[in-house]
Amino acid sequence: GCGGDDGGSGSGGGDDKITLGFSQVGAESGWRTANTKSIQEAAAAEGIDLKFSDAQGKQEKQIEAIRSFITQRVDVIAFSPVVESGWDPVLKEAKDAGIPVILTDRAVDSKDTSLYKTFLGSDFVEEGKKAGDWLAKEYQGKSDPVNIVELQGTPGAAPAIDRKTGFEEVIKTDPKFKIVASQTGKFERTSGKQTMETFLQSVKDIDVLYAHNDDMGLGAIEAIEAAGKKPGTDIKIITVDAVKDGMTALSENKINFIVECSPLLGPQLMQLVKKVKNSEEVPTRILTEETTFTPEQAKAALPDRKY
Ligand code: AHR
Repeated sequence: GCGGDDGGSGSGGGDDKITLGFSQVGAESGWRTANTKSIQEAAAAEGIDLKFSDAQGKQEKQIEAIRSFITQRVDVIAFSPVVESGWDPVLKEAKDAGIPVILTDRAVDSKDTSLYKTFLGSDFVEEGKKAGDWLAKEYQGKSDPVNIVELQGTPGAAPAIDRKTGFEEVIKTDPKFKIVASQTGKFERTSGKQTMETFLQSVKDIDVLYAHNDDMGLGAIEAIEAAGKKPGTDIKIITVDAVKDGMTALSENKINFIVECSPLLGPQLMQLVKKVKNSEEVPTRILTEETTFTPEQAKAALPDRKY
């Protein structure tokens, strides 16, 4: 456990302390590390007994963790689903056991919305649109083709699907924008670097890189530099998240624009946990407030950036 438990009788509801089972995606990115820290710190601050489980990017492991939370009879289950599909059976098991479930960060595609109490996280489609809007402005009034390569997040994950959808929705309105290559970089730095290396070998003129998160963008920067090109100048780069390393690269003009996605979901999650434990009504969807950053804005924000 994460400390603060009282010996773990296994019976759950024996004392006043709320027990929360949380299944995390993994540790694929700086965003995820900040998210885990936020959840652990907020649980400790609220005196909530957190049973934290890391799925190492695997859906089977998440399902296993949720089943074990059900067996342990935790008060509330929260999780950030690795992928969107395939959750109905295990969510049904939690519902049948009378344990409320909260989705954080990523959504599921279950048709039956009674399988969970609420969703707390970002509007990923909106994030993709913001990336597209910046690009449309950047190339306004120009007619030459703009060749875009895209580093997608984990296949099947809500942020990968939605950030692609939102971005395409905006850029398809102007035929000069062309996504000439699009592959996964799994939201990881090393994978982002490797995939960018193959893009650089296979695509002649890359004007723009759109990476679904900072870490993949940072890996890609290494590949671009190794190929003797200047990131941010020879290839314009847009990423999502705004973690410290991303913001630093943005302030150095190696990235041109970052769409913020906030990982600091812990405090809001704990408030929701207390409410659903007390059977109080909660909104079905709670969206995180987010902004965007240019290099100048990154310079101004960096000194106070917590993650
Ligand atoms: O689900 C949120 C995404 O997951 C973040 O944008 C990415 O960095 C993380 O891996």
